[in-house]
Parts: sequence; structure tokens; C-alpha cells
Amino acid sequence: MSEHQAESMRHYYRIHAGIYDATRWTFLFGRKAILKKLPYEREVQQTLLEVGCGTGHNLSFLARRYPNFQLIGMDVSADMLAQAAKRLTRYSRRTRLLEKAYGTQPCALAPDAILFSYALTMFNPGWEAAIECAWNDLPPGGRIAVVDFHDSPSRLFRWWMSKNHVRMEGHLLPALQSRFRTEFLGIRPAWLGLWRYIMFIGVKEGN
Ligand SMILES: C[S@@+](CC[C@H](N)C(=O)[O-])C[C@H]1O[C@@H](n2cnc3c(N)ncnc32)[C@H](O)[C@@H]1O
Repeated sequence: MSEHQAESMRHYYRIHAGIYDATRWTFLFGRKAILKKLPYEREVQQTLLEVGCGTGHNLSFLARRYPNFQLIGMDVSADMLAQAAKRLTRYSRRTRLLEKAYGTQPCALAPDAILFSYALTMFNPGWEAAIECAWNDLPPGGRIAVVDFHDSPSRLFRWWMSKNHVRMEGHLLPALQSRFRTEFLGIRPAWLGLWRYIMFIGVKEGN
């Protein structure tokens, strides 16, 4: 991620961080659903990294659901991380928040699972590198979980989303499936088909 790109993310979320949780539930569909699809027993010990963790919506759910998970949230926006830190106070012994851009070099955090929730469609450019980085950061048998926008039949809507840094051209799924074995896939319509979103859980095979 270039410094220019990182700065435009920081700028965008400086404005949006305060209203993020009040507004995003109306269109970031599938976030809880994919977390419920993760095939982990409640007591298992795993380290999960959420890339682009934002305000900690997913991490707080995971912290409640899995009492032995070590959770790491990484985000390029300090304003979003400030919201996450407030939300995760009670889980601070097993959560870490890192202000960092993901996708150019190994994260050196040894996660067992990596979650991208409505993050990868904002890595423009850089989504391919981020998928590759995730593959390198995971051990054999490690999991990637992705929930994100997929595509839209409306050119006007795609244009509007691009003005909000989101690319939704159906580009993520083929790349994910070429790198990871598909363990779960859902492609769902939203708002009467104005767009579709994907939920993907994949397993790293090989070394
Ligand atoms: C739409 S929000 C999603 C937040 C959260 N995952 C959720 O589901 O509510 C996208 C987040 O990704 C972060 N982000 C974008 N590019 C990033 C990068 N290269 N590395 C880390 N975070 C990034 C943004 O700052 C933002 O907080």
C-alpha cells in the first residue's frame, strides 16, 4: 500500500469512524454469519488476525464466542482503531490492536486464521498482494475467512462505490479459490439484487 493510498484511507475514516457503527449495519451484510460458519470448537486456542478490523465489530463478537482465542486487529486508520480499543477494553488481555497497513510484507504474527471483513475490496491496488500475503502468513491447514462485496449489475452503483474506495467487480472470489481450498462459500443478494456479497472460508493446503 502506497503512502498516498494509506493517507486517503485515514482521511476517509477520520470522517466516518464516529458514525461507522450506526450506519454500516444497513449494508455490510454477512459479518456475523461468516463468523458463525467458522468451524472451531468454543474452547479451542487459536490466534486470529483480522486485517482491516475497523471499529472492532467482529473482534468483539469473536472474543465473546471463543474465550481462548488470541485476537489481533490490524488497521491503517488510527481513528477506527480508537473506536475498536474502546469496544474491546474488557478483552484487552487477549486482544492486540496494531496500526499498520497489511499486504506488502509478512506480518510476523503467526496467525492460525486471517479474517478480511469488508476490507479486501478497499485494497485498490493491493488486493492480490494481500491475498498472497495471507497465504504466506498462514500455516498449512490455516484458514482465511472473507466477507465482502462481490458484484453489482448496476454500473451507477459500482461507480458510487468506487467513489467510496470500494471495487466490486467479482474479482476476489477467483483469486481466493485459486489459492485456498474452498471450505465454505455463500454468494447472497442484498437490497433486492442491487449487489451481491460473498462469504468465503478457505484452507491453505501445502507449504
Ligand atoms: C469497511 S471497513 C471494515 C471494518 C471491519 N472489518 C468491519 O467489518 O466492520 C475497512 C477497514 O479496512 C481498513 N484498511 C483499508 N486498507 C487497509 C490496509 N491495507 N491494511 C490495513 N487496514 C486497511 C480501513 O482503515 C477500514 O478500517
